[in-house]
Amino acid sequence: MTDKGLFIVLEGIDGSGKTTLARSLKSQLESVRGWEVRLTAEPTKGPVGSLLREERIDSPRAEAMLFIADRACHTEEMRALVEKGITVICDRYYASTLAYQSASTSGPVLDYRLLEEMNDAVTMEPDITILLDIDPEVSGGRVDSRGEQKSKFERLEFQRRVRDKYLRIAKERGSSVLDASKSPEDLCSEAMKLIDQRR
Ligand code: TYD
Repeated sequence: MTDKGLFIVLEGIDGSGKTTLARSLKSQLESVRGWEVRLTAEPTKGPVGSLLREERIDSPRAEAMLFIADRACHTEEMRALVEKGITVICDRYYASTLAYQSASTSGPVLDYRLLEEMNDAVTMEPDITILLDIDPEVSGGRVDSRGEQKSKFERLEFQRRVRDKYLRIAKERGSSVLDASKSPEDLCSEAMKLIDQRR
């Protein structure tokens, strides 16, 4: 039987550097370790993810459920890869829904426990979740383009709330938190150490 691949998830506010880290991890794991690695992201490019990317969904509740529906399809694809021995690095997973869809100033889009239950019903537990933590003011705010038009201040405030949610979720679920204000090289080597500990 082939060894399973690792399922690695990167999380963080918009502009925290997840994509850069994903790419450098892939290249390190392939060239240094000789692993087969696939990069993927949510929302996906599949039918539900494309709907989320291309259309404005007026109901935040419907949008939350679509993120989870997209994840349900995506999880099955990723599970198949991991079973084949391929390591999957996923840019955003269930913690994105838990953080973003609960960070609105008017309260969670859906009851938080319900969001957790719906996610638990369709996800597989990552081997490693790495939260790239950064002050949104420092990340320069490639900011949330979803929902109603917000002022720069409101967008920053929203990203701050998302960051706090993420930190709380990371503590609850035992995710690793890296300081994303560090250089891309330092972040990659810290992430590689976390992966080594897990392997
Ligand atoms: P998008 O802007 O389409 O992708 P990219 O990160 O490549 O620019 O989508 C990311 C946005 O979607 C980001 O602001 C976070 C949000 N999002 C949620 O609100 N909930 C979720 O469950 C996911 C996966 C993303």
